Amino acid sequence: MSHIVSYHVHGAIAEAVVDNPPVNATSASVRQGLAEAIRKAEADPEVRALVIRCAGKTFIAGADIKEFGKPMAEPQLPALLAMMDRATKPIVAALHGTVLGGGFEVALAAHYRVALPETRFGFPEVKLGIVPGAGGTQRTPRLAGLETTIKLTTEGGQIDVAKALASGLIDAIAEDGDLGLAALAYAEKLVVEGQGPRSAGTLPMPADDPALFEEARKALSRKMRGQSAPLKILDAIRLGYEMDFDAALLQEFALCRESIAGPQSKALRHMFAAEREVARIPGLPADTPTRLIERVGVIGLGAMGRGIVMAIVSAGLPVIAVGLDQEHVDAAMKAIGKMWSSSVAKGSMTQEAMDKRLALITTSDDMHDLAATQLVVEAVTEDMAVKKAVFATLGQVTQPDTILASNTSFLNIDMLAEASGRPEDVCGMHFFNPAHVMRLLENVRAAKTDRDVVATIMALGKRIGKLPVLSGVCDGFIVNRMLSKRSREAFFLVEEGASPAAVDRVLLSYGFPMGPFALGDLAGLDVQAAARKARAATATERELRADFVEQMVAEGRLGQKSGSGWYSYDENRKSGPNPQTDAMIAAHAERHGLKLREIGEEEILQRLLYAMVNEGAKLLSEGIAARADEIDVAMVNGLGWPSHSGGPMFWADQIGLDKVLAAIERFRAEQGDAYWTPAPLLVQYAGEGRGFTA
Ligand code: 3HC
Repeated sequence: MSHIVSYHVHGAIAEAVVDNPPVNATSASVRQGLAEAIRKAEADPEVRALVIRCAGKTFIAGADIKEFGKPMAEPQLPALLAMMDRATKPIVAALHGTVLGGGFEVALAAHYRVALPETRFGFPEVKLGIVPGAGGTQRTPRLAGLETTIKLTTEGGQIDVAKALASGLIDAIAEDGDLGLAALAYAEKLVVEGQGPRSAGTLPMPADDPALFEEARKALSRKMRGQSAPLKILDAIRLGYEMDFDAALLQEFALCRESIAGPQSKALRHMFAAEREVARIPGLPADTPTRLIERVGVIGLGAMGRGIVMAIVSAGLPVIAVGLDQEHVDAAMKAIGKMWSSSVAKGSMTQEAMDKRLALITTSDDMHDLAATQLVVEAVTEDMAVKKAVFATLGQVTQPDTILASNTSFLNIDMLAEASGRPEDVCGMHFFNPAHVMRLLENVRAAKTDRDVVATIMALGKRIGKLPVLSGVCDGFIVNRMLSKRSREAFFLVEEGASPAAVDRVLLSYGFPMGPFALGDLAGLDVQAAARKARAATATERELRADFVEQMVAEGRLGQKSGSGWYSYDENRKSGPNPQTDAMIAAHAERHGLKLREIGEEEILQRLLYAMVNEGAKLLSEGIAARADEIDVAMVNGLGWPSHSGGPMFWADQIGLDKVLAAIERFRAEQGDAYWTPAPLLVQYAGEGRGFTA
């Protein structure tokens, strides 16, 4: 036997143990080893049952993603599971960790399933743009019914042992903690009781429910707009009603392979790998020491500061929350309590969890109380003078090695670092609004930030459930700097004749959750006007002329919160067209002698998105982003760039950088060098016929 799958016989029970770190994926050697174990157990007259178990932290967590798109060695997973179906001796799967995808399919092809209490189960294939390929859509409905199957396979979430047991997906929970012994005992009991093998494939499909499929199709088309896998998975489940079990398995596998070969899965697999890659910082070895963080300070308790407090205590870390004065502190605690209470009311949080979190927050209006922290996150008002003063004080009142992080979204952190008097301890931790919800955390390395500070904030980001991406210092870091180029183009498009609604529609149908104008209304036009003001000194005349937000703010139109912005809003914040916006655009054109023209969807899309790709190339050559992976992960998780196109840099690679460059050159001829000079790295890569991510 291979060392990847070892085989032992304990009396009448054989045991196959898979040991394929890190997650026991069903790589070729695992499939071959398991096939051999089944053959051996079947051939040995002394063996009456077989247990399949895994070493390490988890049972098989899926097919091996690294094998996708390459020729697959035999046996393929469905063939292995067919062997299990046909086995004449009972097979027991002993489950722990995360039983996912192909791993869940192996478990369901076993005849009996025993799991440790903390085990989680799921079909994450949909998140990789894939249809489950080894019976997930066929065995699950026969065991657990349609509703559970549709939810598990199309949404990609996980369930716990209680739910798995109640749905018939497992048979027993191994309560006493020794899974190996529990599974052997379970198998022995089967033998004693004379229980034979049983294949889920011999069970009937549950009663058909076309309305349930229709409902799911509608909900998925809305929730996972633009993604093809969820709907293909519904088709795969339906196969169970259209043909017999074996034929349905063949068709399911064909759909799986087809989805793996498609562009969406390629993009989603890029995202999966990139999300893991960004945790590895070039030049910063994994064993770089980190500083011990036991208590965090947050200074500034506006919307961002509150969200940061909530994010940190959610991970069980105590926080000292410092506000300007007692009134601000009280208001912040009231707002935090209100948000958590509404989660409790909705049932997404228990009262006990809320009480625990509240107990982790200490409040103060005195910065001296931050002396007891190892990290302070500053989230005071976005004003350089105010922030500099805060950093000067923080440098004095905190311990000599307390990390000082700014949540600024565009100010120069090097200047804050100097103001603190100990720049090596200063960095950025840029959260996205709402900070307790959004996964992205842009960690910023300033010119003098110590290596252990970088390692510490990357580890801390993960500890508090965020997806940390490292950026260098520049105006707006990765996400806001790229976004500012999109906003600029959006304003120019409106000046040239595209309606805001048309621009938004193009991005919505590309897959963004909302377009730039709906986003402006949501964030607040006053906030956008303030950001434009802060950048006015470096703006071009044309950028200053496109002063729509300033015009609206002057009229008290601040977006959603005032009921009127680019769109108008009813009391439930439902948007509708705003005639004032049309009038403003027409008057603006007349005032400045602008000639409006029809602008096609392709031009809108290319100008909005290529402007970001070009800026991304600049971020790479400036070293602000170490790799294209940082940009793709940040834009998907910070701005809502649709993950199934893989983020801006991967997407541009798929189009071909020569084509992207040609379009940018065309826009340059029409719009001028100031906005469309191609990034030298784009020109270079296009010339070399390579991509950003390849
Ligand atoms: N194939 C290959 N490598 C995998 C893998 C898989 N299915 N799942 C995880 N890995 C690798 C990761 O790339 C990472 O490698 P790295 O250290 O070199 O970066 C390592 O395992 C650890 O992964 P994480 O950093 O994600 O570790 P966590 O402990 O945070 O999470 C996990 C573990 C919950 C298993 C998570 O990795 C995960 O969700 N994996 C994906 C599972 C999945 O999608 N399975 C379905 C695959 S498709 C399939 O099975 C098709 C079938 O129907 C035929």
